[in-house]
Order: sequence, then C-alpha cells, then structure tokens
Amino acid sequence: MSLDHPDLMSSLQLAYSAERAAAIAYVGHARSLRNESEREHVRSIERDEWDHRRHILAIMEEYRIPVSHWLEIKHFVIGKLIGAACHVIGRFMPYFFAGKLESGNVCQYFVMIQHFRSLGISKHDELLWEMGMKEKDHEVYFLQMVSNERWLPWFERVFHWGKTSSSNNVDPDTDVQMSLAEVHRSCDS
Ligand SMILES: [Fe+2]
Ligand SMILES: [Fe+2]
Repeated sequence: MSLDHPDLMSSLQLAYSAERAAAIAYVGHARSLRNESEREHVRSIERDEWDHRRHILAIMEEYRIPVSHWLEIKHFVIGKLIGAACHVIGRFMPYFFAGKLESGNVCQYFVMIQHFRSLGISKHDELLWEMGMKEKDHEVYFLQMVSNERWLPWFERVFHWGKTSSSNNVDPDTDVQMSLAEVHRSCDS
C-alpha cells in the first residue's frame, strides 16, 4: 500500500533522518558531561531516538516510502557537528538547545496522527502518540537540568524556550489517547 499524502511522506522521511541527527548528537553530548548519572540519562535518551528511528522505518517500509539519502547525509553531518560542539560550549547550552529542539519534535508525531487519520488510517496512533510523549519527556528532562542556571532567563527571552515557553502545549502527565481536537490544541502554539 502506498500513501497518497506528500506532506506525510516527507515528514516521515525527515523524522527518520532527524532522529539520526539527534541520536548522534547525544553521543557527543553524553561524552561531554562530567557527571556519570547525567551522562547515563543522555545515553538513555540516545537509545530512545534510535528506537524512534526503527519505528519510523517500519512505517515507511509498510508504505514503500524510500529513505532520503540526502537527508541521511545532511543529518549525519548535523549530528556530528552538534555532538562535537558539546565539548566546547560548556554544560548549559547543549542542554538548552536539546530541550528547545525536543520541544519542537513533540508535535511532529501528533501531526502525523492527524495526517494518517485524514487517510482513514488510525493503526499507528498509539505508536506515534508514545513517540511524541517520549519527546516531551526529553524536553522536560532537559529543562530540569538547566532550570536553576542563571543564563536561562536570558536564553529564554532570545530563543523562546524555557520555564514559561515551549513549542507545544502538551501536558506531560496525560496518558490518555488524545482526541483529534486535543491534538490541534496541544500543538497550536
Ligand atoms: Fe525521537
Ligand atoms: Fe527526543
């Protein structure tokens, strides 16, 4: 079966490669951390991103969506550059920008649910929901890691992410399958 939805196809291709960038970047991020428990947590987040990539690939294969080699190369380079940068920009910035990126990643999976539903397909709802909520967990963790840093209010003002700003309105404590209307509300920010 093929998908008659170009936006959905390209967002799956993009998410597949972006998960690679994230996982590779977290390898560098984890190595740059001095605290062993922080390092282990970032490694577990890296494993989540590889899991996401496997799940997306399974969906892509089901609908015969090809992997974009251009996106793969581009995101490999992005991941390596970010991972390397983590060693020279201190502790705060890698956590801050990881949190900001995760904040934007939450809704990509909820929007995919909407796209699939527009085609009458709901069997991926649960998996996509879980992946979106996992990204929210990552965002919450990264915010927690910098919440007492003196730089946070300044960075929040410039980059619009922090204690009072996020790219989504998702409540991390909810574990109920969202209705379509709630997906709209949670991702409308
Ligand atoms: Fe992910
Ligand atoms: Fe993530």
